[in-house]
Amino acid sequence: MRVLGIETSCDETGIALYDSKAGLLAHKIFSQKTHIEYGGVVPELASRDHVRKTLPMIQALLKATDLSPTDVDGIAYTAGPGLVGALMVGAVIGKSLGFAWQIPTIGVHHIEGHLLAPMLEADPPAFPFVALLVSGGHTQLIKVMQVGAYEILGESLDDAAGEAFDKTAKLLGLPYPGGPHLAKLAQEGDAMRFNFPRPLIKQKLNFSFSGLKTHVANTIAKMGHDAQTRADIAASFEKAVVASLMTKAVHALEVTGLKHLVIAGGVGANQNLRQSLSLLGKQQGFAVTYPRSEFCTDNGAMIAYAGCQRLLAGEQDNDSIKVRARWPLTELRIPCPSISDKYCYDAAI
Ligand code: KG4
Ligand code: ZN
Repeated sequence: MRVLGIETSCDETGIALYDSKAGLLAHKIFSQKTHIEYGGVVPELASRDHVRKTLPMIQALLKATDLSPTDVDGIAYTAGPGLVGALMVGAVIGKSLGFAWQIPTIGVHHIEGHLLAPMLEADPPAFPFVALLVSGGHTQLIKVMQVGAYEILGESLDDAAGEAFDKTAKLLGLPYPGGPHLAKLAQEGDAMRFNFPRPLIKQKLNFSFSGLKTHVANTIAKMGHDAQTRADIAASFEKAVVASLMTKAVHALEVTGLKHLVIAGGVGANQNLRQSLSLLGKQQGFAVTYPRSEFCTDNGAMIAYAGCQRLLAGEQDNDSIKVRARWPLTELRIPCPSISDKYCYDAAI
């Protein structure tokens, strides 16, 4: 089965073609620049950029793979969680193309996409595994039993890890999205200079990052922000976040008895996190898998893959166009044709 994937939940337009036999055929990602001057994503501008980009990117991808619409068997688009206007663009385009091409469509859960992104790699993890999902909006430890069977083991009680990176980067005067900029600045800094807190030591599976940001703000106020101090703050902050993520991920492996950790979501592109966890895995005897960096952040390939699994199992949308701003992962079910009518996407906007 060949599936066109469309991701438009936030500020990346991602388009991909996935073939259940041949694997990923091609993909494209457009990262919107329009938000930089505002220091954060402006939902209306995001929707407009998705409108401008989605169809031309689909056309370009078909051309690049030498495929025509008749070669596509299904369409998967992100149906939530995310910005409703932005989601609507992908949903309307996906469903309209499905109608025109007379093929089934499926609305995909964005986080399910992230969790299954490592399946696109040459050496995919076997189920079950523990996933550390670290994105701009979510920080969760999830037991992944199989496609559609997820148990939340722990999560952030306040800011998500990516949000903490972005807010701290803003305090340091770095452009949006701050995560990658902060990580780059951290390479110049001394991570030992500031001892930032590692909150929620006692709550072994939950995270908290908002206090860290306050510490950074206080440190900037006290120390000033010459170039070296900024780099030292960035490095010390990154070290504190990575340490917190690692401690809790290891604990999740202990309580589940599993030996395989998968890192998913945008912060999973962070080299310090990747290297530190790989090293710890070698020392403590657990495997660590990441998708390639471009599939950690938002992309169409993960949506095409997740949608393909559900379409293959006989699921598909009903006729209405519905997206969800919020959509608990635990509402998802194992794909199964006999329960497919439970998957109509009731709007809870
Ligand atoms: O998964 P994602 O692309 O979008 C959401 O679904 O939220 O994650 C975006 C987040 C942003 O907060 C961004 O700053 C962060 O991932 N990020 C990073 C890095 N690359 C992206 N954070 C730290 N280090 C990075 N290298
Ligand atoms: Zn995402």
